[in-house]
Amino acid sequence: MTIQPLSIPYNPLSEVSEQVGGRENVESLRRVARDFRSDTLTVPTDAQLLHSLKASRGDDVYSEDPSTTALERRVAKLTGKEAAMFAVSGTMTNQLAIRTHMKQPPHSVITDYRAHVHKMEAGGIAMFSQATTHQLFPSNGLHLTAEDIEPQLQLGTNIHISPTKLICLENTLSGMIFPQEEIVKIGELARKNDIGMHLDGARIWNVAADVIERKGLDASSEEDRQIVLTDLLAPFDSASLCLSKGLGAPIGSILVGTKEFIERAKWFRKAFGGGIRQCGGIAASADYALTHHFPRLAHTHKLAKRLEEGLRELGVGIAAPVDTNMVFFQPQAIGLPLDATMARLAALPNPIIVGRERCVVHHQITPEAIEDFIACVREMKEEKQASGEIPKEGEIGQGEREKLESYNGPKGKTTDAVLRKQAALGY
Ligand SMILES: Cc1ncc(COP(=O)(O)O)c(C=O)c1O
Repeated sequence: MTIQPLSIPYNPLSEVSEQVGGRENVESLRRVARDFRSDTLTVPTDAQLLHSLKASRGDDVYSEDPSTTALERRVAKLTGKEAAMFAVSGTMTNQLAIRTHMKQPPHSVITDYRAHVHKMEAGGIAMFSQATTHQLFPSNGLHLTAEDIEPQLQLGTNIHISPTKLICLENTLSGMIFPQEEIVKIGELARKNDIGMHLDGARIWNVAADVIERKGLDASSEEDRQIVLTDLLAPFDSASLCLSKGLGAPIGSILVGTKEFIERAKWFRKAFGGGIRQCGGIAASADYALTHHFPRLAHTHKLAKRLEEGLRELGVGIAAPVDTNMVFFQPQAIGLPLDATMARLAALPNPIIVGRERCVVHHQITPEAIEDFIACVREMKEEKQASGEIPKEGEIGQGEREKLESYNGPKGKTTDAVLRKQAALGY
């Protein structure tokens, strides 16, 4: 079965013009439309930046910038929390949240061993919160469960332990959606033991977009978004939501929680040097992205699915379930070394850039880029088959087939080897 190319109801390439953005930015947009390294690699659109020109220009460190306050109120309402705080990055909102939760050492945080807060934030938990991190391996290979966490809780007054004060989950993780019923169970376990719950929701927007799509709700309706996000965040005391990933804001992340929590976090934000003076322009740009780019996320998921299916059809391995906008591809499964595949994609007349196995589809990736990606891998495969380096279809022996199938996981479970590799690469 040959899968048909997808079309999307917008043209990302038309959104930066030479008149407004200048030739260089038009060229940047053309490049990012074929750049799969990250969903942070987007180009702010003309409309987005023109919108920020009209933003208020007050001093947000004095809480005197209406555009920033309006964005904070909007996200607090959307997520069903009392208050919100804007900061420059997801790393900052995560670390400020953890610092605000943690009061006095000895204390510890539980995370998945692949968690961004633990692996990719420069050791911030130890540096800023003086906390030990207990990194757990999910027994199902995909996500932590309450059963994984319960025996690892450090409880009681034994002076040898460092008491668990916070459980920190990530959704999505490697593009995979954390089942909400499991999050609810983990939340109940946390509450029973007086432990805080923080969400690294850098890509919770993608989860919300998926829920909205599956339930047939309207991604442009603020009310529908609010229902879904409030439900997703209900088990958490605090959550960090990135604005500069899927949504395509140039800067920013938002922390949500109780009023008291956010007031305390603002104190730490000041101490970290993270207060922003005339913040209105960047807040307005993020606000624009929330209104206009959020409805595109479901399309990025469809494009990722199309990439997955096109590559799978060729026999390429896919290392993790494609629930949202990430595809972890393994061309080695059809005898194509990863480096050579990346080099060939980058050498196309209109280059395609990938960051090793991880391919991230953002709102400015075009359907053409997806089709060109698949076509390039197909061409490489056919060349190898023609030269006899890899067997043609129908000539695959048993040993070769087993090797192929081992790459083509996970069917329910990710193999330990795949998980360890993902951990080593820091996905
Ligand atoms: C899951 C996750 N959390 C947090 C962050 C940190 O965001 P930032 O790069 O804005 O610091 C990232 C960044 O890639 C991320 O992927």
